[in-house]
Parts: sequence; structure tokens; C-alpha cells
Amino acid sequence: MHVTHLSLADFRSYARIEVPLDPGVTAFVGANGQGKTNLVEAVGYLASLGSHRVSSDTPLVRMGAERAVIRAAVTQGERSQLVELELNPGRANRARINRSSQVRPRDVLGIVRTVLFAPEDLALVKGDPGERRRFLDELITARSPRMAGVRSDYDRVLKQRNTLLKSAAMARRHGGRGMDLSTLDVWDQHLAQVGAELLAQRLDLIETLQPLTDKAYEQLAPGGGPVALEYRSSSAGAEGAASGGAGAEAPRSREELYAQLMAALAGTRKQEIERGVTLVGPHRDELLLKLGQLPAKGYASHGESWSYALALRLASYDLQRAEGNEPVLVLDDVFAELDARRRERLAELVAPGEQVLVTAAVDDDVPDVLAGVRFTVADGTVERT
Ligand SMILES: Nc1ncnc2c1ncn2[C@@H]1O[C@H](COP(=O)(O)OP(=O)(O)OP(=O)(O)O)[C@@H](O)[C@H]1O
Ligand SMILES: [Mg+2]
Repeated sequence: MHVTHLSLADFRSYARIEVPLDPGVTAFVGANGQGKTNLVEAVGYLASLGSHRVSSDTPLVRMGAERAVIRAAVTQGERSQLVELELNPGRANRARINRSSQVRPRDVLGIVRTVLFAPEDLALVKGDPGERRRFLDELITARSPRMAGVRSDYDRVLKQRNTLLKSAAMARRHGGRGMDLSTLDVWDQHLAQVGAELLAQRLDLIETLQPLTDKAYEQLAPGGGPVALEYRSSSAGAEGAASGGAGAEAPRSREELYAQLMAALAGTRKQEIERGVTLVGPHRDELLLKLGQLPAKGYASHGESWSYALALRLASYDLQRAEGNEPVLVLDDVFAELDARRRERLAELVAPGEQVLVTAAVDDDVPDVLAGVRFTVADGTVERT
């Protein structure tokens, strides 16, 4: 798919902007702080309902404005659609498809697809486990938009269960007789049910992503691998944890994963009531990224970490393409961070994409193979050059 037109109103630094786009490569070039990332961030938001830079919507709305609107015309094969999102920080966002009446924001998922490479990706390798969980879950949602509902159900159930645990913890501390724990049983079942669904999708994704990531790493940094993705499940049994979490012999079916989660919740309940928080479940799991025999986090060099992050993004691209969904490739400021060899390799790998959006501070940072349309971004204006 590709975006044929992007309109922004009160998004970030833009009061109003209209940007017609072509398939193929488009580069946005301009000095620091001129609004290049703001443009591609908007495209990314349509694909994931979130920004790759911030977790709240507030900074996305132009200072002084009340709401922001992102609108895009999208072409997939013969089909054209118009998607629109209105961001209302502190209130519900609104969405429309083809100017029709309101739909839920999550209904627009799957219309715009992106794989976004950005300097922030280094956190995929070096950052907290939450970064890697988000990577997995965003890709899961891109593969199967209905998973957005499962993710938000999980978050909701987790929050309610934590509230319950907190009040149980309070009751204990204040010497009460403790509360009726039968409600907790019900929440355990909810959590295990939704958690099993999420877990099954993550395990399936990792299995598919593993060979693609290894291939991409080899292309970017020949001879530097192999890389391995290992899922460390907080709910896997003692033997499972010792052999590296969910290994080959770990449970895979929903029923088995449900049983695994229920057993883990039962096993940690006492501790959970003491601490007032849910200690096992997909929200506590870790995706271990290994380079050779060592974990990348804490061991890999800066350059290796970068190659790893890029390999994960390239693998997500290959995966979606293989499943018949060609996403827009967005490369925000990544070439300036790479040495000449990896720059050329990455450029060659992404160049054939149906649509590639690149941002760079100077023309020289855009590799020659990515010659295409150029826009100059300056002072809130975006002009084709
Ligand atoms: N909500 C907002 N309201 C007004 N201006 C904003 C808002 N959010 C960001 N900006 C402005 O947008 C500019 C940053 O834009 P952006 O990140 O797109 O820059 P860039 O061109 O990508 O720069 P760089 O080359 O440094 O990455 C900053 O000057 C910032 O002050
Ligand atoms: Mg930028």
C-alpha cells in the first residue's frame, strides 16, 4: 500500500499542511527542528495509533490548539481509502473512514501500515523489556488488527486485578481479616484467558520472525551473527525458566498456555497479595535478543546494537510483505547514524519498497540508491524541490 496524500491540522508544529505523495522514494530534507520527523510521525500514528517518540498524545497537538487531525488518502492495489483521526488529549480520539460517520480508532488499523526505522529503535536492544514487548505487540496488531482489542482487554483486566490486589494488600496491612478472595479467582481466569491469547500470538510471531531477523542481520553485518530471539515467560514453570522460558518443548496451544498462566497465578498469589501487584503474565515477559551466545543488551557494541535494531525492523517488513501486506517504509534520520557500508546495505534493501519515506538533515545523508522525490522542510512549510 502507499499513501497518496497526507493532511495535518494542528499536528505538532503544523497548523495546516497538505502533502501529496507518490509511490517510490520520497525524501524530506531540512535543518534540525524544521518538522521532518513530525510528518512521518503522523503517518506512523495512523498505522499504530501511537507515536514512536512519546507515549501520550498531548505533545502531538500543536501548542495552543485543542485537537489535532491526521488525514491520509491511501491506495492498496485498486482500492483507495481515506482515513482520518482526530486526537483529543484527555478525551476519546475519533476516527472516520471514507468520510463516513464515526468508527472506533482501532477500526482504522490495517489501512495504513508502516515499518518505521528511527534513532529511538536503539532502545529495542538496549532498553527495558517493555520496549521489546511493545515491538512484539505492535507487530501482532499489524498482522491481525483484531488483536488491538485483545491487547486493550488485557490492559483493562490487569488494571482491575491490580486494584483488587492493592486493596487486599491494604486490608492485610491494616490487620483486617483479609478480603473475600473469590473475586480474585474470577480475575485470574480473565487474565489467563486474554493472556493466553496474547502469549500464543507472541510465540507464533517470534518463531516466524527468528529466521527473518537472522537473515536481515547477516545482510547488514555479514558474518556478525547469528542472532536468536528467545521468549522468557514469567509464567513458565521452574524447569521452563531454567531452560530459557518458552523453549521448543514449552506449551503452545491456548489451553496449555491458559493452564500455564493459571498455575503461575496460583503459585504467586501469596506474594502478589503481599506486594499488591500482578507478578506473572505477558506484561512481565521478556524477549531476549541474543547475538552469538551472548545477550545483545549489556554485551553488544553500539554498532552491533544498531544493526540488531535495524534487522528487527527489516524482519518485520519482510514478514508483513510475505503475508501480503506491503507496508510503507519510514526511515527517520537513520542514515546519518550508520557507517558507509551499512548505510549502503540498508538503502539497497529498502529501495525496492512500494513507498519509502526518508528524512535527513542534509542531502548527502540520503544514499544515492534512494534518489527520488525530494521535499524541503523549513519553517513549517514542505515544498517539493
Ligand atoms: N505540540 C507542538 N506544538 C508546536 N510545536 C511543536 C510541537 N511538538 C513539536 N514541536 C516543534 O516541532 C519541532 C520538531 O520537529 P521535528 O522533530 O519534526 O524536527 P526535525 O525536522 O525532525 O528535526 P531533526 O533533524 O532535529 O530530527 C521542534 O521545533 C518543536 O518545538
Ligand atoms: Mg527528526
